[in-house]
Amino acid sequence: MRTLITNGTVVTATDTVRADVLVEGERIVAVGPSLEVPADRTIDAADRLVLPGGIDVHTHLDTPYLDTSSSDDFESGTIAAALGGTTSIIDFATQFPGQTLHHARDTWMKKAEGRAVVDYGFHMIVTELDAGIEREMDDLVRDGITSFKVFMAYPGRLMLSDENILRALRRSGENGATICVHAEDGPAIDALVRQALAAGHTAPRYHALTRPPSTEADATRRAIALAVHARTPIYIVHVSAAAALTAIAGARERGVPVLAETCPQYLLLSEECYNGPGFEGAKYVMSPPLRAKENQAPLWRGLVSGDLQVVATDHCPFTLAQKEMGRDDFSKIPNGAPGIETRMSLVYDGGVREGRFSLNRFVDVTSTSPAKIFGLFPRKGTVAAGSDADLVVFDPHARAVLSARTHHMRVDYNPYEGREVVGVTDTVLSRGHVIVDHGRFVGRAGCGTFLPRKARGAA
Ligand code: URP
Ligand code: ZN
Ligand code: ZN
Repeated sequence: MRTLITNGTVVTATDTVRADVLVEGERIVAVGPSLEVPADRTIDAADRLVLPGGIDVHTHLDTPYLDTSSSDDFESGTIAAALGGTTSIIDFATQFPGQTLHHARDTWMKKAEGRAVVDYGFHMIVTELDAGIEREMDDLVRDGITSFKVFMAYPGRLMLSDENILRALRRSGENGATICVHAEDGPAIDALVRQALAAGHTAPRYHALTRPPSTEADATRRAIALAVHARTPIYIVHVSAAAALTAIAGARERGVPVLAETCPQYLLLSEECYNGPGFEGAKYVMSPPLRAKENQAPLWRGLVSGDLQVVATDHCPFTLAQKEMGRDDFSKIPNGAPGIETRMSLVYDGGVREGRFSLNRFVDVTSTSPAKIFGLFPRKGTVAAGSDADLVVFDPHARAVLSARTHHMRVDYNPYEGREVVGVTDTVLSRGHVIVDHGRFVGRAGCGTFLPRKARGAA
């Protein structure tokens, strides 16, 4: 099967060129001006951009949380991803206490197999560590699961001690894994939560008030200090506070290899969302919480300067009925919000259309850098001969209004309800197959495959 994408403007992290793209089977075979070759299918991309498929390296599909699970499974979540221009995800597979990492890997493989419509990999969340689990980390790296997440928050549930985080970092120095850190000071937050509840403060806005920016900045500094001890790189997930970014930028200035991501919600939404009427604020209960508006400009600047390299979503949706679990106690509201479908449009609109950064930087933070950091490049993350034909025909002039009435995520609210964005995904190819045709999903469940990833330093 040969597909020719003609008349478009091909954008990579480094170049913007008028070029055609020829796809044979699952791969791109040529990128060049006026490729006049016979094809089984021709896609006219006139007046549109041809981008490498988006890569969302932070999703939580079908993931257990207290007594419930996130509301998108691998089918509904990846259909929404595809419609939004994302063709690869890296989801978090959790080792719950008492389980081996292999058990967690097998559980998440079963959740994804036969359902995912775009390619997927896993980061393994490590909640317990001993010599056996360290050996398992080595096995998983050999099997292509080359990144792990550790929590400094949620004591007694997910948190790993500093001693064990240091151990995981040291092991990653040997096996080439990347350690991703959720940097919030769990014990301090828990003390503030107990204090708030004791004073009768149960409303959603206390979620944010008990997780102040200082708890994120302190944990970020501690995580970086541990990485310095271990002499390994570290990746900080979902940076929300300018103070945490200052810690990251300072470390990078000193030559410490700290990598970091932020998410659209921290770039575009702010703590005012917690002041909605009634229980509305529960929609925005996520960790870290939304911050004061003044944090947004530094985060955008961090993406421009390179102190932040990635925009991921932390897509972790819960329906309004699920959020009700915390009606009388904000600490029982399931943490997380939807975003897998809206990332590309929001970052294009806020980043490129608003003039904050170039088209190339947009491609870099949504696709190329995630591919490079997490061992997928050049198979994914660029438009070049030899790469997978994961391609997005993106209309930079089209407008859309984000709404729960029209989105495809399996959740009954949209954090950006009513917001207009300019820049919309039109057509999507995943490994050469058209899975979104002019905004309509035309793929099938199970057409996504597991992505084994390279370790750091691997060729
Ligand atoms: O609130 C959030 N972010 N839920 C997902 C879990 C996590 O910490 O990433
Ligand atoms: Zn997290
Ligand atoms: Zn997360």
